[in-house]
Amino acid sequence: MGYRIVVAGATGNVGREMLNILDERQFPADEVVALASRKSLGTEVSFGDTTLKTQDLDTFDFAGYDIAFFAVGSDATKKYAPIAAKAGCIVIDNSSLYRYDPDVPLVVPEVNPEAVDGYAKKNIIANPNCSTAQMVVALKPLHDRAKIKRVVVSTYQSVSGSGTAAIDELWNQTKGVYVPGQEVAPKVYPKQIAFNVIPHIDVFMDSGDTKEEWKMVAETKKIVDPSIKVTATCVRVPVFVGHSESINIEFEDFLDEDEARDILREAPGCMVIDKREDGGYVTPIECVGDFATFISRIRQDSTIDNGLNMWVVSDNLRKGAALNAVQIAETLGNRVLKKG
Ligand SMILES: NC(=O)c1ccc[n+]([C@@H]2O[C@H](COP(=O)([O-])OP(=O)(O)OC[C@H]3O[C@@H](n4cnc5c(N)ncnc54)[C@H](OP(=O)(O)O)[C@@H]3O)[C@@H](O)[C@H]2O)c1
Repeated sequence: MGYRIVVAGATGNVGREMLNILDERQFPADEVVALASRKSLGTEVSFGDTTLKTQDLDTFDFAGYDIAFFAVGSDATKKYAPIAAKAGCIVIDNSSLYRYDPDVPLVVPEVNPEAVDGYAKKNIIANPNCSTAQMVVALKPLHDRAKIKRVVVSTYQSVSGSGTAAIDELWNQTKGVYVPGQEVAPKVYPKQIAFNVIPHIDVFMDSGDTKEEWKMVAETKKIVDPSIKVTATCVRVPVFVGHSESINIEFEDFLDEDEARDILREAPGCMVIDKREDGGYVTPIECVGDFATFISRIRQDSTIDNGLNMWVVSDNLRKGAALNAVQIAETLGNRVLKKG
């Protein structure tokens, strides 16, 4: 007997990718239900070779369902996730609402799979921020070998991280630059994103950091090790899908770049593409639709005793959201639910 699964937010970027990944990984589902807002009632979404008609999240009865993937944003999550959880359905949530709740595990299965066991306090498991997920997949195996003291990361984040409206804004603004009279004013973003970069993701905090930067700090500590110091600068770039990160790491112990490359080659979820020649590295366009976190440009930082630099790229809709959520469900299935 397999699982009865709900995908809430099935008409969105992450929800659609969730359905693709459930199918691609042949998740042992007996039934998959697609939910969205009332305005999408009856909208068809693809699930493998079949189509599902979207139902209304507001009136859906979660009783009897095993797992609900939520990708509806924090406001709708706040309203509906507790209803699903109370009905006995385990929620795997993509929003930031529960990530910092001590009673909710925050899980990247390659890094802290055992944390799923703590799901029962609220019947909710949180999926991390997209930038954090790909970074910790690359950091953990290096941390296990040489203990990371400090991380300095700059991100280059694609617009799909802000939902479908942001994808439309980049597309229409880019066309508008070439067609007089069809210029598109910024709406999703505070400044023009086409042919530009914006060093501002999420709201500003009192410290001067943005909330996105704070999330990378807090989530790395919760998932990997509270002793790791992280400082981040998060930047939106005119790329549709795929987040990139320039990461500088300071370790307690010396770690040679060749050994780091070998460790990452063996590490779960990691794919090393690192040739010191033209094109011998991965760019976001090449990671789209892939499961892996790609690591390139691994090299010693000669300005400190135990430092490395690297370039990390992953599909933010997959490892940064839908794939990680499905991997959490697989981990939960293997460790706890044991169906299918
Ligand atoms: N994109 C990423 O890289 C990424 C990464 C990590 C986490 N996340 C998180 O994942 C969530 C979804 O992101 P997204 O990029 O998929 O957004 P999106 O493309 O804008 O889709 C939002 C989805 O949520 C549904 N929804 C919104 N409000 C609702 C309500 N009140 N009731 C029922 N359904 C509602 C929408 O349904 P309708 O179509 O009917 O409006 C749609 O299916 C967000 O919390 C986001 O922060 C995204």
